[in-house]
Amino acid sequence: MRNFLSVTDLIPDEIISVVERASAFKQGASSNALAGKVGVMIFDKPSLRTKLSFDVGIGKLGGRAIYFSHEEIGMDFRETAEDIGRVVSRMSDFAVVRTFDHSKVERLSEAASITVINALTDGEHPCQALADLQTIREVKGSYQGFKTAYVGDGNNVAASLALAVASVGGSLTIGSPEGYQLPEDVLKKAQTIASETGGTIEQVTSPEAAVSDASIVYTDVWTSMGQEAESRVRKKDFVGFQVNPQLLENAAPEVKIMHDLPAHPGEEVSVGLLDEPRSIVFDQAENRLHAQMGLMDFLLSDG
Ligand code: NVA
Repeated sequence: MRNFLSVTDLIPDEIISVVERASAFKQGASSNALAGKVGVMIFDKPSLRTKLSFDVGIGKLGGRAIYFSHEEIGMDFRETAEDIGRVVSRMSDFAVVRTFDHSKVERLSEAASITVINALTDGEHPCQALADLQTIREVKGSYQGFKTAYVGDGNNVAASLALAVASVGGSLTIGSPEGYQLPEDVLKKAQTIASETGGTIEQVTSPEAAVSDASIVYTDVWTSMGQEAESRVRKKDFVGFQVNPQLLENAAPEVKIMHDLPAHPGEEVSVGLLDEPRSIVFDQAENRLHAQMGLMDFLLSDG
């Protein structure tokens, strides 16, 4: 039984193989890996892409999804993460969990006896990173030989992206203001993985330096779910870190723009940028479905 709480729960070869399965599903391959299986989705935060893609993906693999919102379960309010893990293990085959503190999904999975998949925590968004790798590979044909830049908050999305790009030997530069950089342990882990795969993970405080000659420029919101009280301060602290046509003049001519969505146009991206032909955000969103089907097929197949 395997969990997927962090990108690092899969070794690099497994990540590559999951993304290959994802591409096969996108091209029409099918699997009955979840026939007769029930996946419980426990979501403490709102969701469009993650909820839809898991629900649809579980169905396409022959399984059944049951969704619980924060109001219905209330992790650590109505009952503990541990008790939720124990109870869902008695009646279902795997759990897909979106919550706040990363330690909650760890505690739930330690008490559970079924596979647990992280559908976003404050620490990581590993399913997003699988879809990101699939999208990057579609556009560039490989993972190596070009630069990806991430501009903005060193948050859950940035952490999983750094670990994923490192795993496939890619090159990533993250540009964040002081105080909003990747947690030190995540940066070290990504750099250690990169040193074994031939990748490079760098962190800078200049957005121009981050995007310089980049073929992919990725950004995410400045204020993540749960940080709403900090929104005013963050808007000030991130001045100069907006991905806009001017900043993109520093990037490679063929640059493509990525964003995990939802976006806040006028903040981390200029208004209209994600509607331009160089934006690949809707391919990226669609790939959530294929990437998670690849993941579930890998983690949950009986044979
Ligand atoms: N960093 C964002 C990602 C949303 C999909 C958040 O956690 O709110």
